[in-house]
Amino acid sequence: MYTHIVGTGSAVPARVVTNDDLSKIVDTSDEWIVSHTGIRQRHIVSAEENASTLGCTAAKRALEDAGIAPEEIGTIIVTSTTPDYAVYPSTACVIQGMLGAVNAAAFDVSAACPGFVYGLTIAKGLMQIDDRPVLVISTEIMSRTINWSDRNTCCLFGDGAGAVVLKNSDVPGGLGFHLIGADGTGALAIHREGGVRTEETARNAPGDLKMDGRAVFNFAVRSFCDIISKTFENYGWTEKDITWIVPHQANTRIIDAAVKRINVPVEKFYVNIDRFANTSSASIPIALDEMVKKGLIKTGDRMIFAAFGAGLVYGGVAVEWTK
Ligand code: COA
Repeated sequence: MYTHIVGTGSAVPARVVTNDDLSKIVDTSDEWIVSHTGIRQRHIVSAEENASTLGCTAAKRALEDAGIAPEEIGTIIVTSTTPDYAVYPSTACVIQGMLGAVNAAAFDVSAACPGFVYGLTIAKGLMQIDDRPVLVISTEIMSRTINWSDRNTCCLFGDGAGAVVLKNSDVPGGLGFHLIGADGTGALAIHREGGVRTEETARNAPGDLKMDGRAVFNFAVRSFCDIISKTFENYGWTEKDITWIVPHQANTRIIDAAVKRINVPVEKFYVNIDRFANTSSASIPIALDEMVKKGLIKTGDRMIFAAFGAGLVYGGVAVEWTK
C-alpha cells in the first residue's frame, strides 16, 4: 500500500504589504529585508479572516483538485501555530464543520513550521489502519502574533494556507522516506506565551512571538543539511535522482548556507518566499500548490520537503510524484 498526494490547494489573503509599506512603520528598508531574507512582500489577513476561513478555502480547492467529496474524508489533520481557539475546539473540528466532512475525525498537530511534514507523516501512519482519504491542512495567521513595532521579526512573516488530499493505492510511489525529530533544549529559541504554564501566563494574553534569530538560523541550516543527507543515505536517492527540494520558506540565506554544505544545486530548491514571506507550516503546501499550478512537477518527479522551526523541531518527507 502506498500513500499519494492526489490534490493540492492554497489560499492567501488579498491584501499585500510590501517592504516599503513596512518601512513606514518601523526603521527598516526594502534593501535590508531583501538582502537579509529574500522577502519582498507578504499577504496579510483582513479582520474577517482567520486560520479556519483560509484553511477551509485551501481545503475546498484541494478536494476539488482531487475530485473527492468532503464526506469521503476519513480524517482532517490541521497544523497551525495560530489556531482559532487557544486549546479547544481544534481548528480541524471547526473546518470539518465548515466543509461538511461529516465522516471525518479531526485534530490539530502542534509542530510549528514543520507541521505540514509532521502532518503528512502522521497521516501516512494513520492510513495503514484506516484506508480512507486524509486531508492535511496547514493554515497560519502569523500577522496576529507579531509585534508590528519590532523590526527584527515583523518583516519575516506572512499569512496563508495550503492543503493536500492523501489517498492510498497499490501504485508504487507517493510519500516515501520520512524523518522527523526535535531538540527540546532549544524550546525557547522561538516561543509565545499564553499557555497555562503558570498562573500569570494562564491569566494574561499570549503576547508576541519572541525569537533568537541567530540561534534559529544555525539550527535551520544544520537541520536542512541533516534532512537532505539522511534522506540520501537511508532512502538510496542521490542528488541526481531528485527534481526538487521544497524547503520551508523562512529565509533565502538559510537555503544559500545549506546549499554550500550539501551537493544539491540551488536551482533545485523551489523558492517563493519573495512573495509570501514565512507562512510557517503553510509555506511548503503553498509552494507545492504553486508548483503544481505552474506545471513544474510531472509524474515520476522525486522531491524532498524539508522544514525546521519552533520546538525546536525538524522534518523531511521524500515524495515520488504520481498525480
Ligand atoms: N531592518 C533593518 N535592520 C534590521 C532589521 C530590519 N528589518 N532587523 C534587524 N535589523 C538590524 C538589527 O537591529 C541589528 O542592528 P544592530 O547591529 O544595530 O543591533 C542588525 O540588523 C543585525 O541584526 P542581526 O540579528 O545580527 O541580523 P542577521 O543578519 O542575523 O539577520 C535574521 C536577522 C532574523 C534575518 C536572521 O537571524 C534569520 O533569518 N534568522 C532565522 C529566522 C527564522 O527563519 N525564523 C523562523 C524560523 S521557522
